This record gives sequence, C-alpha cells and structure tokens, in this order.
Amino acid sequence: MDKTAIDESKKYLMNSYTRAPIVLRKGRGMKVWNSNGKEYLDFVGGIAVNCLGHCHPKVVIALQKQAQRLLHVSNLYYIEPQIKLAKLLVKHSFAEKAFFCNSGAEAVEGAIKLARKYSNNHSPHDSKYEIITAYGSFHGRTLAALSATGQEKIKKGFEPLVPGFRHVPFNDIDALEKAITKNTCAVMLEPVQGEGGIKMPSKDYLRQVRAICDKNNLLLILDEIQTGMGRTGKLFAYEHFNIEPDIITLAKGLRGGVAIGAVLAKDSVAASFQPGSHASTFGGNPLACAAAVATIETLLEDGFLLDNCHRIGKYFMNRLENLRKDFPSSIVEARGLGLMIGLELTKAGGPIVESCAHRGILINCISGNVLRFTPPLIVIEKEIDYLIDALDDIFASQS
Ligand SMILES: Cc1ncc(COP(=O)(O)O)c(C=O)c1O
Repeated sequence: MDKTAIDESKKYLMNSYTRAPIVLRKGRGMKVWNSNGKEYLDFVGGIAVNCLGHCHPKVVIALQKQAQRLLHVSNLYYIEPQIKLAKLLVKHSFAEKAFFCNSGAEAVEGAIKLARKYSNNHSPHDSKYEIITAYGSFHGRTLAALSATGQEKIKKGFEPLVPGFRHVPFNDIDALEKAITKNTCAVMLEPVQGEGGIKMPSKDYLRQVRAICDKNNLLLILDEIQTGMGRTGKLFAYEHFNIEPDIITLAKGLRGGVAIGAVLAKDSVAASFQPGSHASTFGGNPLACAAAVATIETLLEDGFLLDNCHRIGKYFMNRLENLRKDFPSSIVEARGLGLMIGLELTKAGGPIVESCAHRGILINCISGNVLRFTPPLIVIEKEIDYLIDALDDIFASQS
C-alpha cells in the first residue's frame, strides 16, 4: 500500500469517494498494477468504462496522433473527429443527430433540456415539462440529473431539487400510466438499472413503455450511459427489446477511458436544439472524439467483441448461478445482461470486495449487498474461472 499517496489524497482531495486503499498506476488489457507492482484482474473496468481493456493500443495511438495534430478548438468551428464520431454513432443506431458533452450527468442534463425544448416548441400553450423516471434509477450527480434519480439517499441534503420529475416503480406499467399528467413530456429509464443494483426490466416492460409513450405523445429517453457501447452484448441495450427510443444518453464506454458524453436523437427531436439552445466548451473536442472513434471502430471490428460479451456473459452467469446453488445462504440471485452482471448477497458485500482485492481481483459492491461485475469486454473464461474460484473460497470460509 502506498501510504504517502493515500495520506496526500486525504489531505488534498475532497472526501467524496469511498476508496479502497489501492493506488493504481498502470493498466494493460484486463490487468492493472498498483504502485508496488501488485497485479489485479480488473472486473470493475472503471465501472463499465474500459470496454476494450486498459490502454488499448488503437486508442492510445489515436490519442497520440490527435495530440500531435490538434488538442482543442472551439465548437465555433467544424471539428473533423467530432463529425466522424457523430457519423459512426448515427450509422449504428436509431439516431440521426448527436450532441457531445463530457460526462454522463451532462448527457442526462442535455437529454432533459432537449425533451423540455421539444415539448415547448410542439405544445407552446401547454406546460409540458415533467419527466417520469423510475425508483432505483441513477442518472448522475448534477442537480437536474440528481433530481431525476430515483434514490433518496443520493438527493438527501441537496434540496431544493429541480422540479419536474415524478418517480414510479421500475417494471410497473400501471404505475407509469397513472403517473402521466397533462404536464408530462417524457419518460426516462435505464434499460437495465445499473447503480440501483443491476435490476432487469421484465420481459415486455420496455415495449409497453414505448407503446404508452406513443399513445400519450411522450418522448422516450433511454439512459444508456452504463448499458451502452456493447456492455450488454449489443451496441445499445435497446436493441435487445425491439424498440427505438427518441433520445439516448451515452458516456462511460464511449471512448474506453477518456471523458466524453453524448445525446443521440432522431432529427425531428434534435431539431429543437438551435444555435444558443445548448453548448459545452469541451464537448466533442478533437482529442475526445479521436479516442471515441478508435474505440467504436475497434468495438465493432469483426463483431468479435460484441460476440465475446454475449457468449462470455452467459458463461459468467452460469458459473455464478452454480455458485448460488452451492451457497444458498450467502447468495440471493445472479442477474444481468452481457457483461453487466450483479450478484445479490444475503449480507453486506464490502468484506467480499476486500477479500477479492487481497487475492488480486477488483470487484465492487452497489446497494450495500450486490456485487457488480463490469469487466472489459475482452475478458476470457480463464479469468472468470479465477474470480469464481476465489469467490467459492471466500464464501466457503464464511459458511
Ligand atoms: C445510468 C447512468 N446515468 C448517468 C450516470 C452518470 O454518469 P457520470 O458519472 O459520467 O456523470 C451514470 C454513472 O454511473 C449511470 O450509470
């Protein structure tokens, strides 16, 4: 443990994160190393960010090349890598236009503003500004994203919140229908709830939500910040459910390790943003976009990574399901899609996370008792076996 770095972190950084006493210095593929050279298998992957693994050569080279050419220019001018990135995202999604920003929360803010502006333009005499979201959801830490989030613990102490959000239970279609008022303009959901504990939508839920939105002239915003960019085995999670949203938000996996966020929408919706409606100094900056282009091109190359995510995700889930059968008093359920996987425990998960770290494996715990696994999409069976063997050992020593 690098005590100096940890002491200095405590001295100079605001204390807003619960951190493990590990100073990470280097990463390659599935592995990271701490400041003493200890190796870890990384099943956190920057929380669903490092989809290609750490320091993928194609992303590193793209960054190096772009850094030598142009680091930043204003959106007052046309930016080639930004255009290339938008074209790629449009080609591979329902969307026709993109707006770029710097983080997930900022993408959510953009989506909220776009939905309100669209409704304002289309129903100027009605006050349609309300957005329905789900309990258990997580949409980010800025004030509007926080207000949209369906978890009290995250909002506590930051009141007054931004008005205009109603929450309903996830997977409860009747509650959603009943929550619609004359003021509603949109519904915003995560296709699979991430921070809320890897909660899956029931079979027809998202299709029914789409139908309700159509019937009531509401926009459907899907927050794909955690589920997007191949994490669930398809480039976007909405593809699993045979629906098309009106707006999606992206961030995390979009450039595999360097900050970026995006709002994607159909032309008819995107047209509500006109010069002066929305902006970001760094949004879509050349360096960010060059990395994102390299990330997406690599992700889609030969379809290998998406296939691997799908196949290995099933393998992972089977192994966790067997573990649950072996330790029914410790494990409630294994659930997830692709390589976005949660293991719900009967007790707090913190000690398991710590034991894994001692054995050179990084995992994390959400909602107090759900172990979350969001490894790079390059993870292989042998690495999953290593994790499962460690978990087996840890649960056995507990029972
Ligand atoms: C679904 C979802 N939306 C929004 C966010 C916020 O993203 P960021 O931390 O980049 O602001 C997250 C982050 O975990 C997320 O999972």
